[in-house]
Amino acid sequence: MTSSTQPLLQPYRMRDLPLANRMVMAPLTRARARNSDLLPGDLHAEYYAQRASAGLIISEGVWISRAAIGWHDVPGLFTDEQVTHWKQVTDAVHRAGGVIFAQLWHTGSASHPDFFEGRPPLAPSAVDPGLLTPTSEGRKPTVEPLAMSEADIRQTIADFATAARNAMRAGFDGVQLQAGFNYLISQFLNPRTNRRADRFGGSIENRARFLFEIIEAVGDHVDLRRVGVKAGPAWSETGAFVSESGALADSEYVLGRLNDYDLSHLLLMGMMVDPTGGPLADLADDEMFRHFRKVYQGTIIANVGFDQDRGNTLLADDLVNLVAYGQAFIANPDLPARFAAHAPLTEPKSHLFYGPDAAGYTDYPLLQGANQER
Ligand SMILES: Cc1cc2nc3c(=O)[nH]c(=O)nc-3n(C[C@H](O)[C@H](O)[C@H](O)COP(=O)(O)O)c2cc1C
Repeated sequence: MTSSTQPLLQPYRMRDLPLANRMVMAPLTRARARNSDLLPGDLHAEYYAQRASAGLIISEGVWISRAAIGWHDVPGLFTDEQVTHWKQVTDAVHRAGGVIFAQLWHTGSASHPDFFEGRPPLAPSAVDPGLLTPTSEGRKPTVEPLAMSEADIRQTIADFATAARNAMRAGFDGVQLQAGFNYLISQFLNPRTNRRADRFGGSIENRARFLFEIIEAVGDHVDLRRVGVKAGPAWSETGAFVSESGALADSEYVLGRLNDYDLSHLLLMGMMVDPTGGPLADLADDEMFRHFRKVYQGTIIANVGFDQDRGNTLLADDLVNLVAYGQAFIANPDLPARFAAHAPLTEPKSHLFYGPDAAGYTDYPLLQGANQER
């Protein structure tokens, strides 16, 4: 396939937003905000600008509030100073011709008292999720969190809305709500971690209320055409995040209801573990995308373990609209040019994923003398 016929390299219109190609840089925590105010800096601007040839960049997860923290050295979007610093990053990406969304993140119980002067984190219910939390002193086991009061829930919904507004003030082109993997919104969706007896627990309608109230609150401040959601049945399958029998039906309900809003996109992860024998056995490989293409009618971004050929095939088969690459974008800032040239890829250095500095972050090589066509 030449670059002009590869589906990955064709332009796409995501609601009102033109994208130069169908390659998305997946959200990637890199833990380079090594300052007590959790500010991004020049290094972040350089890193994201280097990757601006992606059709769309989704930023690393960023904290919506101080209470959301659950990983060391991740930047926030809850202070004016953070907004000002992010503006330098988004300006650098825009100068380089890119489009960038902020991923809004709250870890809930997937956190540690070290981040809260010894107090447990907040979560839907007092259920230890049985995970390990990356703190500045290494990975520490999670603890039993505090069950959120209704006032805590209201505050958190408001914090998501404020962070979304902050993201737009900081020059992001949109936001993505992290409603996947092990984190707070998933903890509400997951019956193992949500044991609430109020209107935020019990039936899937109730467990999903938190997500939909966040979408509505964000929509009061930000055009929903610039708001995406990362969600789906593929949780980490560790600790309390091992799928139970209702997992598929729950996801069908949640992803189906996303159609009620003119959202920017759904980022849907494929399975990260072999689902054979479990409740998600029918969603192996491309079946995840085939299944949810019938459930969600808007833009779907596929992710997890894609190479160039599989990305092109999934787009050609019309199962999804965009394809996100994670590790490949870490190690290949000019990934679209590499795909255009069918050039070899650089391997990522996983021991440098989470810091501390420019090594393994901004020092990956560009393709020499390649066709830079996007
Ligand atoms: C270093 C690293 C950091 C990640 N950070 C995030 C994150 O902040 N938010 C998120 O939703 N996913 C995160 N992920 C998951 C990626 O977005 C993506 O789903 C994963 O890398 C699989 O895609 P790939 O096979 O193309 O790498 C992270 C993955 C890696 C390897």
